[in-house]
Amino acid sequence: MDTGDKEKPTKNLELRAPRGMEDILPHQWRLWRWLEDTAREIFELSGYHEVRTPIFEDTRLFVRGIGDTSDIVEKEMYTFADSEGSSITLRPENTAGVMRAYVEHELYKTQKFQKLYYIGPQFRKERPQAGRFRQFHQIGAEAIGVAGPQVDAEVIEMLDHLLRHALHLPGVLLHLNSIGDAACRPAFRERFAAYMRDRKDELCPDCHVRLEKNPLRIMDCKNGRCQAAVAGAPKAADHLCEPCRAHFVRVRDLLQAVSVPYALNDRLVRGLDYYTRTAFEFTASGLGAQNAVAGGGRYDGLIETIGGPPTPAIGFAVGMERVIHCMKQAEGAGPVPRRGIYVANADEVAARKAVEVAHDLRLAGFRAATNLEGRKLSRQLGHADGGSYLYCVILGEREMQQGEATVRDLTSGTQETVPFAELTAWFKARPAEVAAP
Ligand code: HAM
Repeated sequence: MDTGDKEKPTKNLELRAPRGMEDILPHQWRLWRWLEDTAREIFELSGYHEVRTPIFEDTRLFVRGIGDTSDIVEKEMYTFADSEGSSITLRPENTAGVMRAYVEHELYKTQKFQKLYYIGPQFRKERPQAGRFRQFHQIGAEAIGVAGPQVDAEVIEMLDHLLRHALHLPGVLLHLNSIGDAACRPAFRERFAAYMRDRKDELCPDCHVRLEKNPLRIMDCKNGRCQAAVAGAPKAADHLCEPCRAHFVRVRDLLQAVSVPYALNDRLVRGLDYYTRTAFEFTASGLGAQNAVAGGGRYDGLIETIGGPPTPAIGFAVGMERVIHCMKQAEGAGPVPRRGIYVANADEVAARKAVEVAHDLRLAGFRAATNLEGRKLSRQLGHADGGSYLYCVILGEREMQQGEATVRDLTSGTQETVPFAELTAWFKARPAEVAAP
């Protein structure tokens, strides 16, 4: 799987995009824009505001925030020394950066409960494979400042709205777990590690290291023998302290109230160390092994870890390449809808008028193009039709003499004459699609 129609370069080019990184070409933007616009619309319905943070940050932010035993920090970060000798890292995810901005700008002083969202590229030096890139894009949302289970349910409901009801991704499934908090997780971690230590011989070499550094990550291992060893291991959900248990029960109850279907997945631990309590992932069909289209959870300790006041928070991020791939499969390539106006001209004199007409149409809010390539009139008409325009304004010799344009409806093929002075008004009276961007 790639994210779409990657053009196969015909020449043996020496310079190409870096491994695991892709260009998003003009013909792919329709789906990307649709995804971005839909997400913005839905997030803003729930009162989220957009933030943008730098593409790179002080390396210490990720080491402290994501955790120095996570795969991301151990193996996958693009880390450089800048010319001033500080260590910087291309962001592997955006939650830590948004929390850094929240603390740095003391956003909690203006309003304790903040709902923020972001869209942008992230970087992880993973082994590229279908659905896994080294530069990929996320749309994420973070609800900061409230600890109650209603927030968890609202955040998950919003993501479900986007993936299932707005984008209609095929086979969407919410996997839900609670991984406890600082009060109950250490004891569970120890029980789990003791169980796995007894089965050390069954584990892969990577899990031997995990057993020492971050035993709960063994649950994520894709190796069949490790999964078999994990099958009978203690489960986090059975070892929650009373507040964590009650929180989880309420989250599930609220999800039921808003008809968000979920499957309990007691092996879901997530790859970032900042999570507490609720952890979740959405998978979709048709993606192969990398089938998580979004992931998130509560992270009540992160803001304090990076130097802010103790502040609970929860959020998620959607992997845009994976969603685009699902949407393409679901809708097929789909015809490009007709939109806008092509202004065709027969000669030099009409070309001047065409520039003027296209200019006036754009000022009035219409998408308009004219003949900049020096094509003959017959080829311009073919181009207007093949280029998915809705209308063609024809400026020939006769039209120039009479001061009125021929306007051809490219869907029906019918024509009308419209005086030059009335062209903009004539289009304003047409269906809204003519003005669609
Ligand atoms: P994450 O699970 O690491 O969580 O990433 C979220 C989503 O980004 C994944 O479900 C996947 O769709 C996409 N993704 C991750 N890595 C890649 C990759 N190498 N190539 C393509 N897509 C990828 C986070 O990043 C957390 N910051 C989410 C969060 C926000 N938790 C709380 N708030």
